[in-house]
Amino acid sequence: MLEVTSLPAAPHMRYGSNSGQALTRRDGVLKVTGQARYAADNHPEGLLHAVTATSTISRGRVIRLDVEAAKAHPGVVEVITPASRPPLMADPDWKGHLFAFRTEALQNDQVRYANQPIALVVAETLESATEGAALLAPQYETEPARTGLDLERFAPEAVGVGSPPGAAVGDVEAALGASARRIEASFDTAAQYHNAMEPHGLVAAWDGDRLTIDMPNQAPVMAGAAFARYFGIPPENVLIRTPFVGGGFGSKAILNGPQILCILAARMLNRPVKLVLSRGQMYGPVGHRGQTRQTLRLGLADDGQLTALAHHAVAATSSFDEFIEPAAAVSELVYASPAISTSHEAVRNDIGTPGPMRAPGAASGSIALEVAIDEAAEACDMDPLEFRLKNYAEAEPISGKPYSSKALRECYAEAARSFGWSGRPLAPRQMRDEAGLLVGWGMGTAVFHCPMFAAEACAVLRSDGTGLVETCGIDMGQGAWTALAQIAADGLGLDIDQVEFRSGSSDLPDGGIAGGSGHTATAGMAIDMAGADAIARLADIATADPASPLYGSGNAGVVAREGRLHRRDDETRSESYADILARAGVAQVEGTGRGGRDPAAAQDHALQAHGAVFAEVKVDPDLGQVRATRLVGAFAAGRIINPRLALSQLHGGMIWGVSFALHEAAVVDRRTGRVMNADLGEYHLPVNADVPSVEALLVPEQDPYVNELGIKGVGEIGITGSAGAVANAVWHATGIRVRRFPVRIEDLMMSAAA
Ligand code: MOS
Repeated sequence: MLEVTSLPAAPHMRYGSNSGQALTRRDGVLKVTGQARYAADNHPEGLLHAVTATSTISRGRVIRLDVEAAKAHPGVVEVITPASRPPLMADPDWKGHLFAFRTEALQNDQVRYANQPIALVVAETLESATEGAALLAPQYETEPARTGLDLERFAPEAVGVGSPPGAAVGDVEAALGASARRIEASFDTAAQYHNAMEPHGLVAAWDGDRLTIDMPNQAPVMAGAAFARYFGIPPENVLIRTPFVGGGFGSKAILNGPQILCILAARMLNRPVKLVLSRGQMYGPVGHRGQTRQTLRLGLADDGQLTALAHHAVAATSSFDEFIEPAAAVSELVYASPAISTSHEAVRNDIGTPGPMRAPGAASGSIALEVAIDEAAEACDMDPLEFRLKNYAEAEPISGKPYSSKALRECYAEAARSFGWSGRPLAPRQMRDEAGLLVGWGMGTAVFHCPMFAAEACAVLRSDGTGLVETCGIDMGQGAWTALAQIAADGLGLDIDQVEFRSGSSDLPDGGIAGGSGHTATAGMAIDMAGADAIARLADIATADPASPLYGSGNAGVVAREGRLHRRDDETRSESYADILARAGVAQVEGTGRGGRDPAAAQDHALQAHGAVFAEVKVDPDLGQVRATRLVGAFAAGRIINPRLALSQLHGGMIWGVSFALHEAAVVDRRTGRVMNADLGEYHLPVNADVPSVEALLVPEQDPYVNELGIKGVGEIGITGSAGAVANAVWHATGIRVRRFPVRIEDLMMSAAA
């Protein structure tokens, strides 16, 4: 049983501040009753089904496809291959926007990774399309697969998302040379796949040169504009509907070849076409977290002060694109040291391009950094928490900028107290439970940056006193529909039940990307400003109307609350929105707002969310089997719009941390370059039995700089710190320092019984 604690009772306040209330999810009932209609649940009239044939090799060329056999199969309508594919208006290798990765849409016969689409079969039924794809029986000219990190490296250039430049302060080599103690350790992290519950899929339908797509996506307006480019139509001709997204984790932020092919088939055949990738087909064209090898070198003074910190990451990327897991960057953010350097190198593998996944870089870098820090504490005979406090960063380590806010000390204290850390023996392998299992306690520091992207929203106040707020925000399970609606209601001075919140469709104002933990802040700011703009229009009317009790008070002299405008200097003088609009004979007033980062905020301050995670594991001394039995995390992430949903995000992140440390790994066959465990049976994800108790605590934090709403974001920070805490607990239980993740039974078996 997953035991979720620290969930405050859910007071559904009728009025007052909607933000801050632990409301339940607005989409919850729809989801648990099966009423939520996901993309693949759409079956428009005349629907055709498409299936991609995918390569079984990872490098080479397709030299033959039995197109005739596939076409002859009953029900098959069309087979699209590189030879028959109609032209696109943009090259699939085009990199035109932030999340446009080079992709495969049958531009040629080259194979760049296993599971790459090599043909598309369209049929009257899914079964016919599947059989038709099987009949293609591809033949290949195969080249040896390049896999693993022991290949030629290249230094990343700054070419876009995921090409981390590295950073430095001080002379790290000199500082290492002069240090009293040195720690050097290398860490391996496995390739991981997003594995959202809802597979990548879409239903595409054309009406002339207008295109409607039902598709889960983390940034539909941006995606629509990119699709428009491939098909040579104006962006406004593309409608993407994405009311429900069954998990994204970064993989649904990126466009992929199968989507383009499905849309293309719908246009060729002038019928709606559905394409849903199988679980196995998602191990390739829709991104993953790249494998890394990270080397950390720490210099220490006698008293445990860090004097040098060098973090170098080597990461796998594809042969044709540049995304590099920015693992070393986390060392720029967490601990104080007069000398720090971070750097990245990439190795080209015959794999699908890695992409952003659940705290890109921060998750993989954090487990390496936190274990290295644990090793440093051990070398200094210091308690891991005491060591971290000794090296607490009062200003951002590299830039020296002050933090906009940083309640990390409080996080350490709160989580340590709740966990019961103070009773921890310093030496490993000292604790056993009543069944004789080894018990270990470890900790890690959580950190994540607070980016903002760009978003727009509009708000309407209607003559009946209700409101309407529109933005194409994305609920992919994190609860955006609820949290953004809370902000919308506050922005309009209404109760949430009086506000209609429309979202998840690309014909609405662009709510920006749901990613980077920045969606609530960015779309929320747009919504808040749209509400304020609509209220200002209403105040214009009221304060200029001699019949209003607000007459003459001026816009700045009124405040909106509970569906009324009040005079600031005399709150007994107020008037309802409905009365103001009725007397003016106006049906509604409208406002618009934009969200985005004020560049000055990032220039003057370091903007980070923080947390501390403590973990308990139990290890079977005979079998080496590990279970995480208890996790306690405390997080300070600025203003919390909905504590219930924020805790849910943090619980999820902490469980992903367990997953990173103990479960997730794609196993690549080095002969073929294929992922051998491309299914949920063998790609291990934590289930309830793997994570018995998770407690997240919210540490209050007011941040006047990060953005107007003071929101830092909670989507990804939970995985950072947690993975390292679990890994460190494994050491504390066993005395074995495992430096490749996930930790496997065989890593602990050899000497566990000793
Ligand atoms: Mo993400 S990895 O911020 O969708």
